[in-house]
Amino acid sequence: MTQQKAAPERAVFLFTGPKNWRDRIRTRLHQANPCITLDGDGEFGPKLNRYRDFLGRDARLVFLDFSSDLNIDALAALSGTIEAGGILCLLLPEQQTPFIKRMLELSSATAYVTTVTPTTEENIWSRIEAAKPRKQTTQAQTGVIATPSQQQVIQSLLRHDHDCIVLTADRGRGKSTTLGLALKALVARQPELDVIVTGPHPNAVATLLKYAENCAQFVAWDKLLDNPTQRSQSKLLVIDEAAAIPLHILKQLVESFEVLAIATTVEGYEGCGRGFILRFLEWLAKRTDYNHYQLTQPLRWAADDPLENWLNKLLLLTDITATEVTQHAASFHYRDCHAAELDENTLHRVVRLLLDAHYQTSPNDLRLLLDDPKQRLLLCLQEQLIGVIWYCDEPALAADLRDSVMAGTRRLKGGGLIPQALGFYRQSELALQLYWWRVSRIAVTTEFRQKGHASAMLRELKSKAANAGIDAIGTSFGDTAELHRFWQVNGFVPLRYGFKKNMSSGAPSSLMAVPISAGSSQLLQSLALYCEQEQRWRRSGRYAATPQLMDGAKQILTGFSSGHLPFYDAHFAWIVYLDGHVNQQGQYHFIQSWPAQVSSNTICHDLQCSSQQQATQNLRRMAKSLLENTSY
Ligand SMILES: CC(C)(COP(=O)(O)OP(=O)(O)OC[C@H]1O[C@@H](n2cnc3c(N)ncnc32)[C@H](O)[C@@H]1OP(=O)(O)O)[C@@H](O)C(=O)NCCC(=O)NCCS
Repeated sequence: MTQQKAAPERAVFLFTGPKNWRDRIRTRLHQANPCITLDGDGEFGPKLNRYRDFLGRDARLVFLDFSSDLNIDALAALSGTIEAGGILCLLLPEQQTPFIKRMLELSSATAYVTTVTPTTEENIWSRIEAAKPRKQTTQAQTGVIATPSQQQVIQSLLRHDHDCIVLTADRGRGKSTTLGLALKALVARQPELDVIVTGPHPNAVATLLKYAENCAQFVAWDKLLDNPTQRSQSKLLVIDEAAAIPLHILKQLVESFEVLAIATTVEGYEGCGRGFILRFLEWLAKRTDYNHYQLTQPLRWAADDPLENWLNKLLLLTDITATEVTQHAASFHYRDCHAAELDENTLHRVVRLLLDAHYQTSPNDLRLLLDDPKQRLLLCLQEQLIGVIWYCDEPALAADLRDSVMAGTRRLKGGGLIPQALGFYRQSELALQLYWWRVSRIAVTTEFRQKGHASAMLRELKSKAANAGIDAIGTSFGDTAELHRFWQVNGFVPLRYGFKKNMSSGAPSSLMAVPISAGSSQLLQSLALYCEQEQRWRRSGRYAATPQLMDGAKQILTGFSSGHLPFYDAHFAWIVYLDGHVNQQGQYHFIQSWPAQVSSNTICHDLQCSSQQQATQNLRRMAKSLLENTSY
């Protein structure tokens, strides 16, 4: 790969000002013809949440219009597309939130990051003009020449002197290009090799595949693990952006395939903490003989690039100096606070801990923590940070919203995840009337784990909740056996098990909760009973019928008959209700005969419907008529 000689600095312009002025700036920036333009509403181009579609491009000028969506994941990801000398223009929303203030304050302290206001505007247009795209490069540059450090990796892979290669680098260091070039060279030598590349999503491996030039194919990790035929001996696996894949999935991949190389960004835009990599490598060292390479030199921008430095400071992506770990159990204390109240050092430690402990932590989380007053932190501190609970306020819903949430016609953004899930899936209006706290994340620093700190933090949170008049605390998480046990030991009961694997955690998600107020105990008890019996029926086809269960089933079946609740979420309610109405069973016998995992083909076949949609409509009509013909 050719390196820019004395690469010119990349620059950032942050536009902030009144609406009329921002409207004019928006038009003028569009006229500058940026290589990538994204906005919140998709008015002038793709929406900001489509940012992944642009990864792997080289851009001179990027314009992100944050007027209606301050999408920091997009900012972090797309900054990597800007080449040396390129410019990133950000049109900020009118309202100055704590995160925006942070952005502006940091910009005033960083060269090449400029805040543009109506009074300073004129000086910048000539620079933007100069950064106009010479050409838009979306195709693979042909004839890239690997740098000496890239060559080292390629040669090692060709020699196959270790079982596996691990390649780590910060962004823009040519990690994926190196692996792509290495695969191309390897397959040129041994055309019989069948190489599969996997990663968190197809766009994350686009650069690798581009440089591999058809020498490898992408297969999603869930397909690899679900399909045993993929595990043929002749297939070699390369894992890119490994830190954005759940740790237990990575381990399964390593155990199931011959892994040629594993690469990952160390500090990036998708949960890429160094701590995560270290833990994974410790595990890997016990299983396989790997060679670890690191690429440190940026290839598309200067070594001390202002944009990279600004972003690392803004998003707290830099490493933290480890403080001496002293473990005096007596001296720790709790602090209940909002992220915006924290000093920079503590905020940095909180973000590092969340990044290291939860692979799905992203830059948007920092914005949410700073800007949303409903997000709170409970810190466990000694001399340093021991643990953190990130929890959020989920108040009762107003009466007019409850119906639409239960009917599935409205999904409220920005909170209320637990009550909305119970209101919709369990058709529980009561759940929507309670005041919840939701534990969004809980993490304890590695050295302090297995000593009861997380449990003690949860006890502290419960006591605070009781004092604040909160009804219940809930949580939703990728359900692994250890985590399930952890929550259960701490008094949380399962209220709903998801069916599908969550792509970011690799496990189906579960909703668990603990009652705090006397008023919530009965509701949580009956929801827990329903969940327990539903799970038992899913596993064995049997359950224990009780009047309480019948109440829950009737609620769900009523919701299914008139709402958007999918059949799979109402199947058990059908079973319970029909078992309680023996005289009605005849005409619905096929529903009782279906196993919990019934396929949509069987449903369509038995109902003589040509589509799943038609079958569901029929089932909704049947539920309505069953409820009308039964008195209970
Ligand atoms: C999950 C997590 C927060 C637990 O933190 P923790 O402080 O280790 O939790 P605790 O010590 O309270 O409880 C964990 C276990 O330690 C045991 N334990 C508690 N005190 C102990 C002690 N003094 N000595 C030994 N073990 C102890 C507990 O009984 C519990 O055992 P179990 O796993 O068999 O149930 C921590 O492992 C973590 O940060 N993980 C990464 C992030 C994560 O997965 N978060 C959860 C997402 S929902």
